[in-house]
Amino acid sequence: MVKISVVGSASMDLVVTSPKRPKAGETVIGHSFSTVPGGKGANQAVAAARLGAEVSFVSCIGDDDYGQRIRENFWENGVSTTYVETAVNAHSGTAHIILAEEDNSIIVVKGANDLVSPKLIKKAEDVLKQADLVLIQQEIPEETVEYVVEFCFNNHIDVLLNPAPARKLNSNIISKVTYLTPNESEFELLFGGQRKSEVLKQYANRLIVTEGKNGVRFHNSLEEVVIPSYQVEMIDTTGAGDTFNAAFAVAKAEGKSLVDSLQFANCAASLSITKFGAQGGMPNRDDVDRILKSN
Ligand code: RIB
Ligand code: NA
Repeated sequence: MVKISVVGSASMDLVVTSPKRPKAGETVIGHSFSTVPGGKGANQAVAAARLGAEVSFVSCIGDDDYGQRIRENFWENGVSTTYVETAVNAHSGTAHIILAEEDNSIIVVKGANDLVSPKLIKKAEDVLKQADLVLIQQEIPEETVEYVVEFCFNNHIDVLLNPAPARKLNSNIISKVTYLTPNESEFELLFGGQRKSEVLKQYANRLIVTEGKNGVRFHNSLEEVVIPSYQVEMIDTTGAGDTFNAAFAVAKAEGKSLVDSLQFANCAASLSITKFGAQGGMPNRDDVDRILKSN
């Protein structure tokens, strides 16, 4: 089993399905309401565990009911919570999701995720050092992301930074990550104004741009490569990016090639969107292996 450490957010997703999104000042009647565990860090931890990695999660939740449910969900999915702290008098992170029409819109309230500090990371340094790969995203403070990237760089640990949600990154940090996986709008924010083909070439084999239905794009030092996505019936895209990143991390940690790892990740991500909820459709290892074998 490969070891993956995930540093990041854990939240409760409060999901409303609705025939349409309200405009400013408008009230619409929705279809349904559910609370399901989410948060980018937590989603990636759960996805990596389902795909067969030994996962330890480094995070912070509140001492509220949501926090307890979030923790239990990790146990049910076999994610180690030794480094998930419970902050006193804090509310757990929440994501307020409207599932309407083609896509979702989300407001994230960070809550205890804002307390994922460099100090908290220091307590988890041993587990980071044992990891085959460290996975991190941006629903926690910027200084923590920078701290983790520097730590991994200095200790020769592979680190995958999923720059979501979008936020500016300093170029020193970009140069120190092993893999960077922006989607198209995150790419624009990070490298806007520069030609995509030039940037991909500059970060050959390290920069993976995810383009949704169109697959993923990178440069292999000789040419630009697109790995197409799998076409499936879409129910809920929430968490597809998280599944992609976790699956890619697991495959790379297992020593698969970049192309094989991206195919594996595309397959896992496509399965994730066929069910409701960020974690609802996240596949088990067998589900992905079966599809890859039959192709
Ligand atoms: O990436 C999907 C996640 O982003 C959701 O689970 C929600 O928590 C939002 O933060
Ligand atoms: Na889903």
